[in-house]
Amino acid sequence: MNGIKIRGMGRCVPERVVTNADLAERVDTSDEWITSRTGILRRHHCTAETHSSLCAGAARAALERAGVLPEEIGACVVATVTADNLVPSAACTLQRELGLPGDIPCFDLSAACTGFLFALHTVECLLNASPRKFALVVGAETLSRVTNWDDRGTCILFGDGAGAAVVECREGWPSISSIMGCHGSGELLRLPGPGAGEPGLISMEGTRVFKFAVEAVPWCVDQVLKKTGRTVEDVDFFVFHQANARIIDLAVRKYRIPPEKYYKNIAEYGNTSAASIPLVLSELREQGKIGPGSRILAVGFGGGLTWGGCLIEFA
Ligand code: UT7
Repeated sequence: MNGIKIRGMGRCVPERVVTNADLAERVDTSDEWITSRTGILRRHHCTAETHSSLCAGAARAALERAGVLPEEIGACVVATVTADNLVPSAACTLQRELGLPGDIPCFDLSAACTGFLFALHTVECLLNASPRKFALVVGAETLSRVTNWDDRGTCILFGDGAGAAVVECREGWPSISSIMGCHGSGELLRLPGPGAGEPGLISMEGTRVFKFAVEAVPWCVDQVLKKTGRTVEDVDFFVFHQANARIIDLAVRKYRIPPEKYYKNIAEYGNTSAASIPLVLSELREQGKIGPGSRILAVGFGGGLTWGGCLIEFA
């Protein structure tokens, strides 16, 4: 199988910033509690923006940075659990908005916070079966629309945003070596759909999900290293899903990852689910901390439950 590399990244976040102090006016919480338990200082919530406008903003920026035209795209996958509509999908909406070709697969993928990594694996498979060389992968969420404001344990966590990658597939490039898993213990983290007969708001047993996460992250790191025959030292940068700074800190400590080899932006965006990993990648690329030649180990985990990891390179 031919591998994929990222050619360009883009991101788009809503203008409105919601601070911990803002939330403390709305629910029984404090800046001290949120900061110490999660590492979150702010998050961005949509006002005029929509899920579609965030996707389009991130995708346009990624195409521009990649130097790839919409008509060159061979597949478009949007990882999300909060699209504006179930039908048409966010990816089909993007196809029309950007003028992507009409004869390519465009669809949404639901794997919560692991969605972007599942989507990267999916487009690697799709491009191997396509005459086209490029694909658009977006991770986007408007979690502020499905937040339960009566639940202080979850409402302080989530933010809105979108990150996008234009990926290229070429003969001879190594596969991203994805590893993935899921376990349908859905009661730990739920976002009910139209058939559930209850309001479509997020609920989570935070402490149990935390325990799952601190086991899932090293499992994913170990599996990716094993599959690729690499060591921790071979990795130039570690990108973890931004769910809680404490989860990242535990992984960093376990693998003795030096500060210049990992990144946290949870303070600025909170937990943006499928958008979290591409937001990190986009910021790191812009700051020049990663680029062609960098070997990046990415790990995601979240609702489903789902988890996954892969080794990402830039073209
Ligand atoms: O992205 C998908 C995957 N998601 C995750 O990985 C999230 C994993 N879980 C977490 O990050 C953490 O479990 C949370 C940040 C959600 C919660 O932190 P915690 O340390 O597990 O807190 P807790 O739920 O055990 O609550 C501890 C105390 C409780 O009070 P008592 O019973 O000890 O008196 C809560 O009622 O903190 C209370 N509490 C709050 N207090 C102030 C819960 N939420 C708040 C709040 N402000 N917002």
